[in-house]
Amino acid sequence: MCGIVGFVGNRQAAPILLDGLSKLEYRGYDSAGVAIRNGSEPAKVVKSQGRLRVLAEKTDNGRTLLGTCGIGHTRWATHGEPSKKNAHPHVSGNCTGSGSGDVESEVVGVHNGIIENYKELKEKLLKHGYQFYSQTDTETVIKLVDYYFKKYGDDPVNAIAKTMVRVRGSYALCLMFKSHPGEIWVARKDSPMIIGVADGETYVASDVPAILEYTRQVYYIGNLEIARLVPGEVTFFNLDGDEIRKELSEISWDANSAQLEGYEHFMMKEIHEQPKAITDTLSAVVKDGRIDLSVFGLTEEEVQNLSQITIVGCGSAYHTGVVTQYVMEDLAKIPVRVELASEFRYRTMLLPPNSLVVVVSQSGETADTLEALRQAKEKGIRTLAIVNVMGSSIAREADKVFYTMAGPEIAVATTKAYSAQLIAGYLLSIEFALVRGTISEEKYLEMMGELWALPAKIEKILEDKERIQWFVAKQANVQDVFFIGRGIDYAVCLEGSLKMKEISYVHSEAYAAGELKHGTMSLIEDGTLVIGVVTQKDLFDKTISNMSEVKSRGAYLMGLTTYGHYAIEDTVHFTVYVPKTDEHFTASLSVIPLQLMGYYLSVSRGLDVDKPRNLAKSVTVE
Ligand code: F6R
Repeated sequence: MCGIVGFVGNRQAAPILLDGLSKLEYRGYDSAGVAIRNGSEPAKVVKSQGRLRVLAEKTDNGRTLLGTCGIGHTRWATHGEPSKKNAHPHVSGNCTGSGSGDVESEVVGVHNGIIENYKELKEKLLKHGYQFYSQTDTETVIKLVDYYFKKYGDDPVNAIAKTMVRVRGSYALCLMFKSHPGEIWVARKDSPMIIGVADGETYVASDVPAILEYTRQVYYIGNLEIARLVPGEVTFFNLDGDEIRKELSEISWDANSAQLEGYEHFMMKEIHEQPKAITDTLSAVVKDGRIDLSVFGLTEEEVQNLSQITIVGCGSAYHTGVVTQYVMEDLAKIPVRVELASEFRYRTMLLPPNSLVVVVSQSGETADTLEALRQAKEKGIRTLAIVNVMGSSIAREADKVFYTMAGPEIAVATTKAYSAQLIAGYLLSIEFALVRGTISEEKYLEMMGELWALPAKIEKILEDKERIQWFVAKQANVQDVFFIGRGIDYAVCLEGSLKMKEISYVHSEAYAAGELKHGTMSLIEDGTLVIGVVTQKDLFDKTISNMSEVKSRGAYLMGLTTYGHYAIEDTVHFTVYVPKTDEHFTASLSVIPLQLMGYYLSVSRGLDVDKPRNLAKSVTVE
């Protein structure tokens, strides 16, 4: 969940590393550090606790650190408190004081992931005379590389491979060896890392935005592979030390998409990018008004015989699965189960033979979702991944990938990836419905038309965002918020509630409107804010009557509905309208005001919208 950047080329490395790390700061942010090599001089390590700007100030934005080869890291503490000592890079020698300064160590490195057996390895290294200065698992792995390097004759491939065989857990490792100037060595298992090349320059990063400004030509390093980086060239090795050949891939993301471009926060920028994310996702797969079924990796016969679909994801990705469940079951009449990946992976998985497992993930690196995918594959079940990040682990391991075209998402709280995932779920549902004959050709085309109309409708909602801002300003001191709805409206409530709590730190809960009476209603008191989402015609009266029940117990009511449902104003204190669309797709519109509410509440409380406390963008540990 931390960020890694490395560079070797002809330019000064430190400013490039700091720039790259600033693009990854959302991944982890309790400390940061860089190690820079100037020719054959030993690496100079500089670390600091706190935000990246502390490190930038300390090094005059990298200008005080000379050298064209270096590695850098932003840390999100797992083993050991956030401190300068525990910050990366770590060194194989006896680091002085706080861990900063010139070091004479053979190995210096940074690491993402968790080394599960580090205590046992540390014991072994202590017996061999190594001394430890930090509480991290990373220091152990760096010292283990040093141990094997010295034991087996100064060969980085061998030393790294031996280390990889001994460690258990996940890692993206980025190392420099004192006796190999001008080289960066990397290795990975179950933790993301990509390598970019440009003219005479080589980059490595844990996430695409860090290097997007410099190159779009990348190599994907596979699990249990090692690579040697020199200026403009990369050599790959397997665990046996044999060289492997790899093809370069091109990343289609635009470098500007990882910049603020005048917005105050990435979250607001990404909220505004939702119309484009939807159009791009549709354009990628809909040709002449139709989807080619092969984009989902299934034949017509296989779709007709599907006995069950299991959708797996975490957080907001899981929430899109809940929406898809309603849409798919209603349109294609296929039973759908939606599972939280962290639960699903530890349960007896009852997956019927003719079933499909759909894993949903923006990053494509979420540890629990990746493991759920692997287990489904082991059971011989066909898998489809709905993923945003090209070349990510989930994208590479699933039988088939459907790429959402949201572009890089920087804010921790997802918005545009959520919207693009919804589109993937709708497309899957209407295509399967057509193949199974549960909707007519005419209905299919009509629904396709509705999908293409969603971006303009979102633009319309965004034009009126100040009204939401005004409402939220009045609610700035709210303590508890309840989101209620039925059907698809309940599914969108789950997302609205998560958006609110994760960035504004206000307690909120989403409830199926009919469930309130079964316990939660006792929490409603004078002034409690209850937001009712009511976009489904057939459920309108039912939800309104649940809203009246809380109103009579003192709740302050906001209603979110589609234009035309004006009767809602008889019940609620404040109404937000969204344009009409096919009722299966209303989540794409009703989620927008809810995202805006979370955003404005966070801003009004003076919080760090894009980097909420305790959270990281990619959850690569379970
Ligand atoms: C919430 C949010 C998270 C992610 C979840 C899954 O705003 O972003 O709940 O949806 O961590 O992440 P991915 O989609 O990368 O698997």
